[in-house]
Amino acid sequence: MGSVLVAYATRYGSTREVAEAVSAALEGAGVPTEVRAAREVDSLEGYTAVVLGGALYFFRWHRDARKFLSRHRRTIGRLPVAVFGLGPINDTNEEYEGSRRHLDKALGKKSWFSPVSVAVFGGRLDPAGLRFPHNNPAMKKLPPSDIRDWDAIRSWAEALPAAFGLRAS
Ligand SMILES: Cc1cc2nc3c(=O)[nH]c(=O)nc-3n(C[C@H](O)[C@H](O)[C@H](O)COP(=O)(O)O)c2cc1C
Repeated sequence: MGSVLVAYATRYGSTREVAEAVSAALEGAGVPTEVRAAREVDSLEGYTAVVLGGALYFFRWHRDARKFLSRHRRTIGRLPVAVFGLGPINDTNEEYEGSRRHLDKALGKKSWFSPVSVAVFGGRLDPAGLRFPHNNPAMKKLPPSDIRDWDAIRSWAEALPAAFGLRAS
């Protein structure tokens, strides 16, 4: 079996950590993986499936995730792909629904692309670590938060081999 590419688009690293958790769950299910920054992936050759995760910023899915889909438009249709967005920093239905709407909007612009699974997970905000242009006084005075739900992330990832049509070794 080839490996599953777990590609991530991040600004502050929390999406990379989620990608690593997805990878660990897949590996635990006997599926080999490779975790890489989405912007560094030039070719999808040798992969049997793709997980593409990106943070949400200002109501949009991370540019590296959007560009990844455009860049691999010709080859990605041959592979099963699962997608996640990372975003809400407050654990409310409104935030999750808003983030999901923004992720769906980004995906809707790629009419040729149809993922086998789409999820939104809560994210992490560390106001002290924000860099330009996010380090404005309003952002910096928000409370730190990390609502990444590792059980939900693992459960989602554990269902992916079946969604991809892969048999674990
Ligand atoms: C300036 C800024 C804008 C954000 N905008 C959104 C947004 O529009 N929707 C959302 O769901 N999350 C938003 N977030 C939350 C991030 O998606 C969340 O912090 C995520 O975990 C960041 O991922 P990263 O650490 O991989 O960059 C925003 C965060 C920051 C700092």
